[in-house]
Amino acid sequence: RAGARVERLPLARFTTLGVGGEAEVWFVETHEQLREAMEQPYRVLGGGSNLVIADEGVPERVIRLSGPLAERDLTPDPALSDDTWIVTGWVGGGVPLPGLIRQLQKMGLSGLEGTVGIPAQVGGAVWMNAGTRYGEMFDGLHTLEIVTPEGLRQVTPDDLNWGYRNSGIPRNHVVTRVRLKLRRAAPDEVLAKMDFADQARKGQPKMKTPGCAFKNPGGVSAGKLIDEAGLKGTRVGNALIAPEHANFIVNLGGATAADVHALLGIIRERVPVPMELEYELWP
Ligand code: FAD
Ligand code: EPU
Repeated sequence: RAGARVERLPLARFTTLGVGGEAEVWFVETHEQLREAMEQPYRVLGGGSNLVIADEGVPERVIRLSGPLAERDLTPDPALSDDTWIVTGWVGGGVPLPGLIRQLQKMGLSGLEGTVGIPAQVGGAVWMNAGTRYGEMFDGLHTLEIVTPEGLRQVTPDDLNWGYRNSGIPRNHVVTRVRLKLRRAAPDEVLAKMDFADQARKGQPKMKTPGCAFKNPGGVSAGKLIDEAGLKGTRVGNALIAPEHANFIVNLGGATAADVHALLGIIRERVPVPMELEYELWP
C-alpha cells in the first residue's frame, strides 16, 4: 500500500494571512493514510483561513486532506431524497467550500448559501460551524464522518452540542467527510440569497487576513467594540487593524505572527468587554 506524500513546507502558503514557518505536511488521501499520520502528534490544516501560525512553524505533523478526501459526490441518495429534500453522497473534508457553494446553487440546492464568501475547506468550516448572519454549516448537514485516535465514527448533528462558531467536535478529531441535507429550490432563488448574504461582506477588507479575530460576545459585533475603543488603523510591524472593519487584522506584506499577537494583546487590553478569540494560534 502507498503511504501519504510527506513534505517539509512553509505553512504561510497554505494560509490566507500568508504567515507561518515550516512543518512536515502529510497529504493524506485515504483513511488508512490518515490513521498512520495520526500515530504521532499532529494538527489538522483545512483552508488555513482561520490560522495565525508562528514564524518558527510547528513541530507536529500537519495533516491535509487530499485526493479522494477532497472529492464530492452530490448525487441525491434515492432512499433519502424526495421532491422537497435531498441527501447527497459523501463530500470530502478537503473540498474547498466556495466552489461547493457555487455548485450547489447551480444545481438548485438550498441550505448552505448563507456561508457564501467563507474561504474554508468543508472540514474546517464544519469543525467550527462557520457561518454568517444568514446561515451556518450545520444548516445543511445530514451525517458527519469523524476520525479520532480511537477510530472512525458517524454522527448526526443531533449527536453534537453545536452552536455559534462551534461544532462541539473536540480538537484534532478529523472531519473526513460529510453528507449534506438540502432543499430543492430554483437556482435563481438560491443565487438571490447568496447575493444578499454577500452584501454583508462589502465592508470587509480585501487584503490578506484570517477573517474575524474575535467571536461576537453575546451577539454584539466585536468589530464595533474594537472600533469604539478607537483602534482602527492601529499598526504593529506590518500587521494592521483594518480601517474598513476593526475585527479584521490584515497583513500589509511581510507581517509576522508576533505582529498579529501584539495587536491581539492591544485589543484585549483596550476593549472593556471580554471576547473569545476566533482564530487559532499555532502552536
Ligand atoms: P483552518 O483555518 O485550516 O483551521 C481552523 C481550525 O479547523 C483548526 O483547528 C483546524 O485544525 C481545524 N480543521 C481544519 N480542517 C479540519 C478537518 N477536516 N477536521 C477537523 N478539524 C479541522 N468564518 C466565519 O465563520 N464566517 C465568516 O463570515 C468568515 N469570513 C471570513 C472571511 C475571510 C476573508 C477569511 C480569511 C476568513 C473568514 N472566516 C469566516 C474564517 C474562516 O474562514 C473560518 O473560521 C473557517 O471555518 C476556517 O476553515 P478552514 O478550512 O480554513 O480551517
Ligand atoms: N461595525 C462598526 N465598526 C466596525 C465593524 C462593524 O461599527 O469596525 C458595526 C457595523 O456598522 C454594523 C455592526 O457593527 O452595524 C455589525 O457589523 P457586520 O455586519 O460587519 O457584522 P459583524 O458582526 O462584525 C459578523 C461575523 C462575520 C460575518 C459577518 C456578516 C463574527 C465574529 N463575525 O461580523 O464573520 O462575515 O457578520 O455576516 O461573527 C468571521 O467569523 O470570521 C467573519 C468574518
